[in-house]
Amino acid sequence: MVYRIGILGMGTVGTGTVEILLNPQGRHPLLTEISIKSVGVRSLTKARKVLLPPGTITTNLEAIVTDPDIDIVVELLGGLEPSRSLILQAIASGKHVVTANKAVIARYGDEIYTAANQGNVYVLIEGSVGGGIPVIEPLKRSLVANRIESVIGIINGTTNYILTQMSSAGAQFASVLSQAQALGYAEADPSADVDGFDAADKIAILSSLAFNLRVKRAEIFTEGISSIDTVDINYALKLGFVIKLLAIAQLINPDKPNQLQVRVHPTLVPKDHPLASINGVYNAILIQGDPIGQVMFYGPGAGSGPTASAVVADIMNIVGVLKSNGKTEILDPLLSCSHQDYCDLMSIEELNTRFYVRFLTQDLPGVIGEIGTCFGRHHVSLESIVQIGFQDNLAEIVVITHNVKEGNFRQALKEIEAKPQIKNIPTVLRVL
Ligand code: HSE
Repeated sequence: MVYRIGILGMGTVGTGTVEILLNPQGRHPLLTEISIKSVGVRSLTKARKVLLPPGTITTNLEAIVTDPDIDIVVELLGGLEPSRSLILQAIASGKHVVTANKAVIARYGDEIYTAANQGNVYVLIEGSVGGGIPVIEPLKRSLVANRIESVIGIINGTTNYILTQMSSAGAQFASVLSQAQALGYAEADPSADVDGFDAADKIAILSSLAFNLRVKRAEIFTEGISSIDTVDINYALKLGFVIKLLAIAQLINPDKPNQLQVRVHPTLVPKDHPLASINGVYNAILIQGDPIGQVMFYGPGAGSGPTASAVVADIMNIVGVLKSNGKTEILDPLLSCSHQDYCDLMSIEELNTRFYVRFLTQDLPGVIGEIGTCFGRHHVSLESIVQIGFQDNLAEIVVITHNVKEGNFRQALKEIEAKPQIKNIPTVLRVL
């Protein structure tokens, strides 16, 4: 039996996908039962890295998603439209869908999965988070017996590369970003990566699967890395931390399973934490569950081959179901996605966390005392407070708090900021 697929998009991931599909030797024999019927592209004249089977290439993407001969549509265009509409059209035409499009799934997952469940088709998305790292299927299957307590990820390779370079080479953000763009790691418009939006898309997907709830992407607290200074990276190192862009989803109260804290922000990570050693463009996702404890998934978070590895695995999973059943009138509940309720996302003001703050103040007696007293009035207890250096005749004071409620901390900070001795508060970061 041959199962026919239609691929939308022949960019980096599309090319990697075709390369695997056309070279089954030494891989699972099921691959030989998959045939590329059509490949949809924007331009027919663009030079391609792989030789496509004759007669497969077309610019008519709609014809692919409605083609009665195609069993599985593989959406690898990226971006919101026309990807969303083509996925919905494919579902309406009875096709199973494989996509690596985190932006579409994070924003339109409810619409897409409602349609998929009504149409009895699968929409598989392993390539959408962590590139080649298996994390979606493990959450759906291998870890399904656990109560998930938290998912903490370094799930954006570009920002991890930038922070790693800033830390190891002492270079400033802007110059490392240009270098990352020259190397092809960062996009020409790096906003989705450096502002944390890409990581927010990915944690929306992971938290939805981990906690069996829908997550409103727009409500995820998101802070990027563009204001991180090497000064802070160096102070953090001296204090025993590295700075990482973390995407975090946590169940705070097991008695309120619908209430989640989901956020993306740069974070001071203790040097001995498993995520502290994830460097360069690599990604890692640390999942804590009951009874498994902690399990970490690590690997290449992007790129042609790694992401294609995830995409082709999804195609093969669907082919496996089709081959064993011949039909999918009842969807496998562990392969599909049937949760419907939205989670209640807690506001960042309610977060309990430690903070790192750097103040620039006049170098006068009593300033450290004033800062400590003001924090104390707002129930912010301090773990350490040190005058660590000088900058332009101003004292540089670095504070690490104990676990505090973010709302209380922010109120104290506002009061401290208004004091005449305080010239500036250049950096406020959360500590894991
Ligand atoms: N731009 C992403 C990253 C890769 O830097 O991790 C694709 O998800």
